[in-house]
Amino acid sequence: MRTVKVPLAERSYPIRIGAELIAELGKQCAQLRLGKRCAVISDANVSRRYRKRTLDSLKNAGFEPIFISQNAGEKSKTLKNVQACYEQLAKHRLERGSFLVALGGGVVGDLGGFVAATYLRGIDFVQVPTTLLAQVDSSVGGKVGVNLPAGKNLVGAFYQPKLVLCDLDTLRTLPTREFRAGLAEVIKYGIIYDAKLFARLERELPKLLKYDTTTMATVIARCCQIKAEVVGQDEKENGLRAILNFGHTIGHGLEAISRYGKYLHGEAISIGQVATAKISHAVSGLPATHVTRMKTLFSQASLPTQVKLTAAQTRNLFAAMKLDKKVKGGKIQFVLAKEIGRVVIGQTVTDKVIRQSLLD
Ligand SMILES: NC(=O)c1ccc[n+]([C@@H]2O[C@H](COP(=O)([O-])OP(=O)(O)OC[C@H]3O[C@@H](n4cnc5c(N)ncnc54)[C@H](O)[C@@H]3O)[C@@H](O)[C@H]2O)c1
Ligand SMILES: [Zn+2]
Repeated sequence: MRTVKVPLAERSYPIRIGAELIAELGKQCAQLRLGKRCAVISDANVSRRYRKRTLDSLKNAGFEPIFISQNAGEKSKTLKNVQACYEQLAKHRLERGSFLVALGGGVVGDLGGFVAATYLRGIDFVQVPTTLLAQVDSSVGGKVGVNLPAGKNLVGAFYQPKLVLCDLDTLRTLPTREFRAGLAEVIKYGIIYDAKLFARLERELPKLLKYDTTTMATVIARCCQIKAEVVGQDEKENGLRAILNFGHTIGHGLEAISRYGKYLHGEAISIGQVATAKISHAVSGLPATHVTRMKTLFSQASLPTQVKLTAAQTRNLFAAMKLDKKVKGGKIQFVLAKEIGRVVIGQTVTDKVIRQSLLD
């Protein structure tokens, strides 16, 4: 088992990474002296596979868990479901000293975390992320929340968990397409922060694609460490944390214009990162060889690197990008790469350069 610490003074917490960790959940929670009564929130796909293991682990350590399962998918990240969870917690008399475990992907983590942040003005929270995206990204950093009909993640909080437990074995049951989508965030960490990680991925991607436990543990731990370092320096996204958005301006735009139906998030940001690499070559001096290495690595992970848009779709894409939270004074702010492993934030780019990056 590896441990990565998220350094946030009195709110610091450990991320534990390893095989068969769900079996350790109860023991780990006991070490933190969490309250006896607890609730596990999950979704239908994850419950089917991991409900019993999770409940057994908690019960064996003396806890009294209840289990709440949602429908799977982004559509469940609503205030209505938040309310349904509150009602279950109240019905089973969970108290200030009780805690909540989010067992699932980013949807369950964001929703469960928001419930934990707000029920009785906040109860202890433990994340057990079961998708690659959740293990390297959404479970680290404390952003929790739900969607509104007007847009994604419009209601939320910063709320740090007490513990994150990444059980590598859960990734084996994840649909291949979801696993590959998670790799787009993994590759992103190499680009924005760590040239050595990027080079390791170039060498060891085949091992990752075979779920080699040692390689997965090393890579996931490094990603968590990078996100922890970034969040540790900028918890509330005032500056540095923006580097995590590399490729996301275009990626989010593509997700929005396809109404979140065509691409998984990781697929959209794979296209977004390749386009942003081309913009970086034109604007911030990223060498052409680095653009090629990035494109090659995303392709090797079977992720899309290009998009064919009609003139109308391109117009919609620009409109969507200009609605993004990162726009300042009507200008889209980009994170651009200078080389693999180093990026700069707050870069404005002309529409012409953006359009060009989407063409070839
Ligand atoms: N809070 C943050 O900082 C942050 C960061 C990035 C993304 N997010 C959020 O995360 C969400 C996306 O997360 P996601 O990609 O994990 O999606 P998800 O939670 O919808 O999971 C993807 C699919 O995989 C299934 N699944 C999960 N684990 C499984 C397993 N081990 N075996 C089999 N099936 C499994 C789920 O039921 C679902 O169908 C979005 O809502 C996004 O806004 C939040
Ligand atoms: Zn992302």
